[in-house]
Amino acid sequence: MLHKTMKMILVMMTSLFAFASIADDTQPLQLAQTSEGFDAEQKYMASCFACHSTGAAGAPKVGPGNAGEWEPRLEKGMDAVVANAINGMNTMPPKGLCFDCNDADLRAIVEYMIAASE
Ligand code: HEC
Repeated sequence: MLHKTMKMILVMMTSLFAFASIADDTQPLQLAQTSEGFDAEQKYMASCFACHSTGAAGAPKVGPGNAGEWEPRLEKGMDAVVANAINGMNTMPPKGLCFDCNDADLRAIVEYMIAASE
């Protein structure tokens, strides 16, 4: 009986540690040098919405309640997710077809998409 309780505590502690290390991996919010007059939501609507609102071709969906679409992707880290948005990934086109977006703009759009999916 006591042994079982100890085991439970150990399991809980281990998962707590796992959680803490995930939190440590998250990057501090960087001050992005976005383009002049840049608006993440507006750019998202113009360039990314077509695929990411419906999940066309397997795109991770954006909108309330879609956090689960993003969690597994964010496991590789925010920088890797942003890099995939910049370089493209399978049927996801490079820069998400926003050719006047710089890298900081794309990062800001990705941050917007993730925040909008909580
Ligand atoms: C033509 C459709 C299309 C458009 C337009 C599009 N995406 Fe995507 N996007 C996809 C698809 C499909 C995937 C999933 C790719 C995969 O997992 O193989 C994806 C995946 C992603 C991911 C996840 C990358 C990862 O590491 O898992 C991000 C971030 C992303 N898109 C950002 C954007 C942004 C930002 C825009 C607009 C500037 C955009 N997308 C426009 C189709 C699109």
